[in-house]
Amino acid sequence: MRSDLSGETRSLPRLSHPGLLHGADYNPDQWLDRPEVLARDIEWMKKAHVNCVSLGIFAWSALEPEEGRYEFGWMDRIIDSLYQNGIYTDLATPSGARPAWLAKKYPEVLRVDREGRRHLFGERHNHCLTSPVYREKTAAIDAMLARRYGSHPGVILWHIGNEFSGDCFCPLCQSAFRRWLQRKYGTVDELNRRWWTSFWSQRYASFDEVDPPSPLGEMSNPSMQVDWRRFCTDQCASFIRNERLALKKYAPQPATVNLMWGFYDYDYAVLAKEVDLVSWDCYPRLRPGDNLAELARACMNHDYMRSLKDAPFLLMESTPSQVNWHTVNQLKRPGMHLTSSLLSVFCGSDSVMYFQWRKGRGGAEAFHGAVIGHEDRCDTRVFSEVERTGEVLEKLSFLKGTAVDRPRVLLVWDQQSRWAASFAQTGLKGAMDPLPVWEKHCLSLFKKGIRMDLKDMDAPLEGYDLVLCPEPFMYRNGFGERLRDYVRRGGHVFQTCFGGIVDEDDLCFTGGAPHAMTDVLGIRDPELDALYPEDELYLRLTDGRRLRVDGLCEYPQQVTAGQVLGTYENGFMKGTPALTFHRYGKGGAWYLAARLSGDGLDAVYGLILEALSLHGAWPWPLPEGCAALERGGAVLLANLSGEDRPLSLPRPMTDLLTGGPVPEVLCANGCAVIRKEEIADG
Ligand code: GAL
Repeated sequence: MRSDLSGETRSLPRLSHPGLLHGADYNPDQWLDRPEVLARDIEWMKKAHVNCVSLGIFAWSALEPEEGRYEFGWMDRIIDSLYQNGIYTDLATPSGARPAWLAKKYPEVLRVDREGRRHLFGERHNHCLTSPVYREKTAAIDAMLARRYGSHPGVILWHIGNEFSGDCFCPLCQSAFRRWLQRKYGTVDELNRRWWTSFWSQRYASFDEVDPPSPLGEMSNPSMQVDWRRFCTDQCASFIRNERLALKKYAPQPATVNLMWGFYDYDYAVLAKEVDLVSWDCYPRLRPGDNLAELARACMNHDYMRSLKDAPFLLMESTPSQVNWHTVNQLKRPGMHLTSSLLSVFCGSDSVMYFQWRKGRGGAEAFHGAVIGHEDRCDTRVFSEVERTGEVLEKLSFLKGTAVDRPRVLLVWDQQSRWAASFAQTGLKGAMDPLPVWEKHCLSLFKKGIRMDLKDMDAPLEGYDLVLCPEPFMYRNGFGERLRDYVRRGGHVFQTCFGGIVDEDDLCFTGGAPHAMTDVLGIRDPELDALYPEDELYLRLTDGRRLRVDGLCEYPQQVTAGQVLGTYENGFMKGTPALTFHRYGKGGAWYLAARLSGDGLDAVYGLILEALSLHGAWPWPLPEGCAALERGGAVLLANLSGEDRPLSLPRPMTDLLTGGPVPEVLCANGCAVIRKEEIADG
């Protein structure tokens, strides 16, 4: 999506619908005995400006009620009548949940847990991704679907499976893991060296001796743990590839898999390569009041999804009202549905889709929000919010396929480094996953209207003004050297504690950390310290502001940085530089030694953004709790504060959503869209 060099924008590959998609997961297979319900669905979809539905996600038992006996008649009728009514289909492969006959006849498709227990039939997303039988059976039904619907003009996209997740520890996975290790390491001696197995007498004499990590066996070798996560990612990737190949033979439409929020199990940078476009499911925990922080987190995930392919993505699922699986399942407050939907569009989504179109009468999700509820009417509050969103998406269809305002900032979201940090046995037990720290960095920039890409350590750094490395524990494959080179040639880095400690094998660098960056950052060999919740440690900025340290901090043993911007104020580290800036080559590097609590990072980013003259999409001060995002020549102003906010505009402007003037007061949960030209000169 960064249109940096060519100025060219990129649209979703071959997705044939001209506008932004608006729709929902649609499960008519739950209503096949009620044709009048299905007829009403189509009428009401048209009323709600729905132009696409995701069909058949969990419909395997309706499509193949017995092994080899297929029933496609109902699906033929639904896809045809949707299409005749201007509604496209995102057609799912049903691999997210298998039918009972499959599980009973081929128990190898059922997952085995870490303790070695094979699970029973039930639930979903819990089959073995290695099982040749499961792969064969999914490929068979996929090929049937592809043959039947691959040339249907109404089918514009394939939705492979659903929310892939989790691990399996069955004998098939175990031997696949051993083969994977053999391919990676060649010899067991090499594995022993790179897993540091001389520790606790863990040396293996052959690959056959290696078991996957298990609480009943080995759980604490971090190199093994990271490799297991890589292996599970690769198994999922090859499972997706297997399905995609089955489709491809007969179906030219693009394919996607729906990804998840802050997901840990797999490396999405790897999975994204298996699909034509990225889609994901976004369910923020909204409140009646201030939602700025939560929606900043949602936008961070949107931005990550966009960055995975540097292209627009699809918001595949969101709720029109409430979910049923949060601890507190609150309704979206009036206005919030449109505003949160447009945030996704302005982060690069070419769709707003929901789970789900219609509430089922039974099953686990009968109380999950839907466009049509059990009252079976369309004159409801939720329906009217959905209808309004559909109208607005039609007005904004010029955004489809456009770039977001070219982000000048890159945050390094490296999943492998994240896994390694979370397995590191140091610092704060159970709290070493850097994701919450990344979220805090994103929040500080979100408040200032600054956009960012989020990519892993393989991504090119050139073209960004600022590269953020919050807690980049693992410097994979020469990342430290590349970062150093980027700064030498004029780039800027902001790195925080716990960075550049281990290599891609999760082995500690020796001879100076952060590896390859000590002279760039102007600090070396930091000792990592951790605080009890009641410990108070402060960092005092040179301008007098006092920031509280949050749990984790480090003591740099040598500091050669040119500029000290803040020091520890108390404790044994009192007076030690904790925020520094160091020029290196044509660029420079900021270093922050600690996690900061509350909005402490806002102060630090204030200094950095000012030094680099980085500004957001809104040239005037943003009212508190509001966000501004730019895409395709338009700017979204969103009030997430939970209260009405005066805008104090310097001159009248037009709101593209209403065609009238942008209001002087943006109401709580409200939003406005303004053409860029109208605000361009500040
Ligand atoms: C998603 C899932 C959907 C539905 C939804 C409920 O994670 O893909 O099938 O369960 O959650 O919020």
